[in-house]
Amino acid sequence: MSSPSSWPVVVVTGANSGIGLGICQRLLVQLISKSPTDAQPHYDFHVQSKIVDGVSFNGLTLILACRSRQRGEAARDKLYQFADEQVRQHETFPGYDGHAETFRKHLTIVVHTVDLSRIQTVFRFADEVTKTYPYVSHLICNAGVASFVSINWFLAIKQLATDWIEAVTAPIYYTQEVGQLSQDGLGWVWQCNVFGHYVLFRALKAHLAKYQTSTGARVIWMSSHESNPMYYDPTDWQLTKSAHSYESSKFQMDLIAHNLDQASLQDSDGLPTRHLTVLPGVAGTNIASALLGTFSSICMFLSFYLARFLGSPYHLISAFKASISAVHLCLVPLAFLPTVDPTEFDDSDPTATVEVGVRYVSQCGRWGKEHVGTMKLMRSKEQNKQCDDLLDHCERLFTTFCEAEGRPVPS
Ligand SMILES: NC(=O)c1ccc[n+]([C@@H]2O[C@H](COP(=O)([O-])OP(=O)(O)OC[C@H]3O[C@@H](n4cnc5c(N)ncnc54)[C@H](OP(=O)(O)O)[C@@H]3O)[C@@H](O)[C@H]2O)c1
Repeated sequence: MSSPSSWPVVVVTGANSGIGLGICQRLLVQLISKSPTDAQPHYDFHVQSKIVDGVSFNGLTLILACRSRQRGEAARDKLYQFADEQVRQHETFPGYDGHAETFRKHLTIVVHTVDLSRIQTVFRFADEVTKTYPYVSHLICNAGVASFVSINWFLAIKQLATDWIEAVTAPIYYTQEVGQLSQDGLGWVWQCNVFGHYVLFRALKAHLAKYQTSTGARVIWMSSHESNPMYYDPTDWQLTKSAHSYESSKFQMDLIAHNLDQASLQDSDGLPTRHLTVLPGVAGTNIASALLGTFSSICMFLSFYLARFLGSPYHLISAFKASISAVHLCLVPLAFLPTVDPTEFDDSDPTATVEVGVRYVSQCGRWGKEHVGTMKLMRSKEQNKQCDDLLDHCERLFTTFCEAEGRPVPS
């Protein structure tokens, strides 16, 4: 029986829909089972492949961090119902030992509101969480926005004609609004995807560090196949001049997650809080809903199924399947994750990239069976400097917001 002091307290941003809701459902399916399959290191990239015991918890606090209380509460009700159905199923299994009911008894799902585009609400959210729960074991930085406004049909036809699977995996033909600002006066996409999550992590950092069980605390950063350094201009770090703010914001998240992880591994007194990057593959969610009517949505889903059938490993399509990488990274013992030996940057060519880490990606076979794969995280000396600068900007802005609120700046 796991001790209540080790039960996970998981924060999921954007938990009311799409992949965020998929992560919550998948986490429930996994933990209601006594032997969560997503915790097992049975994929090719693990350093060992022996079966892991003991990744079983008898309780969970799941914090749905949503910008709308109403949508959050609807998701919470749905998740409780879903958990009850799962328990009922387990009760019918031969040799059932009561774990599912015990877990359900100790399952708490709560909604706390946060709007990442308003830093004041991020602080309020962090205060509520730190006052109410003894620690946070996992922070899943999932919520995301894109300011897609239209489809550039010329580019769409060109990309579809040259590489149509890439065109439905990492499309380059969405036109995005340039210069959209948040209520705080910062780049809107940048604040929702990057800075809001950075502030959330900083405000919860000490609370994450309190989770000193064998698994240690984890921050999961939600990247994308669309993450692309090509579009990133470091002088426009708030992405207000960028016509590709979404791709650039995901690239910034990759940069930040890796550097925070390195810093945490070097500086932590106790077990370090790990920062891990996941890609959900492609799922049909609301993220591009501004662009799609009924007909184009149907075409989109058909093209996803066709891409998968023709061999694309990234068309998970359902949010539940797409969330496998995030849930796996929540549960798998860290000892099983691959490590990358540090490689020196090439001083003679600051733009030359070397492998610095790993991103974890949801994948599936032709018939949709999901698993987790890896992608190399490449970095050049120049990008490393861009990341240091970006983290400086984030930290300075974080300090400014703390001071404006009359809050001490946490270490
Ligand atoms: N779908 C894919 O194929 C795909 C591929 C790669 C990466 N991703 C990433 O996966 C993540 C989830 O996206 P999704 O596809 O599930 O999209 P989605 O269905 O649009 O869900 C986005 C979630 O984020 C929330 N959110 C948006 N702005 C917010 C804010 N300012 N404060 C707090 N919450 C906010 C939304 O809340 P509301 O319901 O209130 O709007 C919603 O719950 C994103 O980071 C996205 O970049 C998705």
